[in-house]
Amino acid sequence: MKTLHFDHIRCPLHRYTFSVKAIRHWVEQTCEGRVLNLFAGETRLNVNEVRNDLDPDMPADFHEDALIFLRGWTGEAFNTILLDPPYAYRKSMELYKGMICSPFRQLKDAIPACLAPNGLVITFGYHSIVMGVNRGFTLECLALFSHGGAIHDTIAAAERYSPEQFIHYNNHQRYEQQHL
Ligand SMILES: C[S@@+](CC[C@H](N)C(=O)[O-])C[C@H]1O[C@@H](n2cnc3c(N)ncnc32)[C@H](O)[C@@H]1O
Repeated sequence: MKTLHFDHIRCPLHRYTFSVKAIRHWVEQTCEGRVLNLFAGETRLNVNEVRNDLDPDMPADFHEDALIFLRGWTGEAFNTILLDPPYAYRKSMELYKGMICSPFRQLKDAIPACLAPNGLVITFGYHSIVMGVNRGFTLECLALFSHGGAIHDTIAAAERYSPEQFIHYNNHQRYEQQHL
């Protein structure tokens, strides 16, 4: 059984997640190498990051829809991809000028092509497993940011990419389908 690292951190909630010091600190510690910050928002991180945000008012290197960005990326693969999209349609409307996240399943399918082997995907939202074993990812680290009172927590999950595990998993599934 693999060990899962878990952090529980109390801090305020802000619509620009990384403007909260404790969260920014956690994410900067967890990122590795060259980072793609796909929904970058307003806070520059103290990491080696390429920043993308659809909103032209945000400080970013690119202002593209996240899915279009991933599908069009021909540069070097990233060691970390950071996903902090609007968590729900209502939040897009109320907090992010109506900018909605690209279809999330398609987004997840497009990520491995931009990620180096052994790379990390760090996701903020309401789920603890995002990329999942079917895409070759193993959950390595979880953080629960507790905002207190009636406000729901924010979950951050860091999942490690091992393409060989993806091949192994698919071969195993195929074997089971044929032999069971
Ligand atoms: C939850 S905020 C996160 C911002 C950033 N992580 C921060 O802490 O400042 C979501 C961001 O995603 C951007 N966004 C919304 N839809 C997008 C899309 N389809 N593609 C790229 N960025 C998008 C919004 O403009 C907003 O800045």
